[in-house]
Amino acid sequence: MTTHLSYVHGYSEHETRRLGEQADTLAALLHSGTSYLAGSRVLEVGCGVGAQTVHLVESSPEAEFVAVDVSATSLAEARARLLAHAPTARVSWIRADLFRLPFPEASFDHIFVCFVLEHLTAPQQALKALRRLLRPGGTLTVIEGDHGSVFFHPDSAYARAAIDCQVRLQSAAGGNALLGRALHPLLTSAGYAQVTVRPRTVYADTSRPELVGGFTRSTFIDMIAAVRDQALEAGLMTAEDFDRGITDLHRTTDEKGTFHYTFFKGEAVKTKEA
Ligand SMILES: C[S@@+](CC[C@H](N)C(=O)[O-])C[C@H]1O[C@@H](n2cnc3c(N)ncnc32)[C@H](O)[C@@H]1O
Repeated sequence: MTTHLSYVHGYSEHETRRLGEQADTLAALLHSGTSYLAGSRVLEVGCGVGAQTVHLVESSPEAEFVAVDVSATSLAEARARLLAHAPTARVSWIRADLFRLPFPEASFDHIFVCFVLEHLTAPQQALKALRRLLRPGGTLTVIEGDHGSVFFHPDSAYARAAIDCQVRLQSAAGGNALLGRALHPLLTSAGYAQVTVRPRTVYADTSRPELVGGFTRSTFIDMIAAVRDQALEAGLMTAEDFDRGITDLHRTTDEKGTFHYTFFKGEAVKTKEA
């Protein structure tokens, strides 16, 4: 079973920058409510370049983190990012596939997963595998996006079609860019208890220039623009139409433009019997 090999965003320098920008711009929105007690053991799954890790350690400076990813390149970036931003943070880095993690049962008090399930062919199996690693009473936090939550002004069929290219390519790679809306049933069917999922909405207009720049432009439009070659190769759109879609997306960052996106943050508990 291929679980991660065709990861749609890839591991380029551009993607490293984009993940950092995304995490920094959205830190308050996505991390609020997540902090771990001194001494707790926390597993971050699919830590990538450490873009979320810096915010995790900032909110929980006394917790002990283990961060895992399949990509050695990303782990090296992550280690460097943490050294630069939080040199005293307690983080161990491990290269491993989340389906075959080298930890005994019940080794962690908490698990944190951000923007990972949406890239997996078997997200429910992943959640079950992670549940085994939580101690009874331990918690799981999962954050995922949902590209179906995008709407903007001025509207554009070309822009919507360009976004749809990303959704289709991610699906062809075995992932699901619309996973956010399915998070509650996914967590419940994976055997977790006390599941809550709440929307975390980004709405950007000119009164919030940091979101227009940091989210609409540098996180979202950049991500869609990055699939141009794959979309053209797959024959999903003509070059002309795709480029018009990106131009139209940029119009949403103008004086009269607005942009909306909703992330979903799930929290769940492993009960004794689960
Ligand atoms: C979109 S990135 C998110 C990175 C980070 N969580 C963030 O929010 O910035 C997804 C990450 O999941 C990792 N990944 C994908 N499949 C994996 C697997 N089976 N085991 C471990 N990591 C995986 C990828 O290597 C990539 O670094």
